Amino acid sequence: MKEIRILDKSFREMITEEAIRMRIGELAEQMNNDLKNKDVVCLGILNGAFLFAADLFRRLEIPARISFVKLASYEGTRSSGTIKELIGWNEDIRGKTVVVLEDIVDTGHTLERIMAELVMRKASEIRIATAFYKPEAYRSNISLDYVGFEIPNDFVVGYGLDYDGYGRNLPSVYTLIH
Ligand code: IMP
Ligand code: MG
Repeated sequence: MKEIRILDKSFREMITEEAIRMRIGELAEQMNNDLKNKDVVCLGILNGAFLFAADLFRRLEIPARISFVKLASYEGTRSSGTIKELIGWNEDIRGKTVVVLEDIVDTGHTLERIMAELVMRKASEIRIATAFYKPEAYRSNISLDYVGFEIPNDFVVGYGLDYDGYGRNLPSVYTLIH
């Protein structure tokens, strides 16, 4: 059993590089079928989705474009929480089929934020693809179209996901050992 250490925490391998590669092939195949006659813009959410976006996009055989945005958090004027703004838009998505590429969907809060922005910018159709999904933590009713792996409600790193900025370069996914 492969174990690694990042900063003060230990993690155990949960999803191998090979399993991820195979699953992404399946997702790409579904998307190649579903989105054949659409004008597709993939929208990767930085930072976490950069590896998933690269691997999935490379396996699409339909005409498609890709763009990236980032959620920037800043403190609100009141202490009641952070406000998140999507920055880095350089693509006109009006009338387009947008496929959001997320690293992981946890509570769904981030997704709600992204969805609102896409609706505001008048995408004609919105699909969600995520490498990982924690159904036990999910609090939204936005439906997820392409899910790589459903995982337990535990903290994971690797394949783009970080612990305090580290671990994104791990080719497999690792779960926190309690
Ligand atoms: P949500 O808004 O609660 O769905 O959270 C989504 C974001 O939280 C993801 O894009 C990740 O950046 C982060 N996140 C959620 N779960 C994990 C995890 O297990 N490891 C690393 N980051 C996570
Ligand atoms: Mg993220």
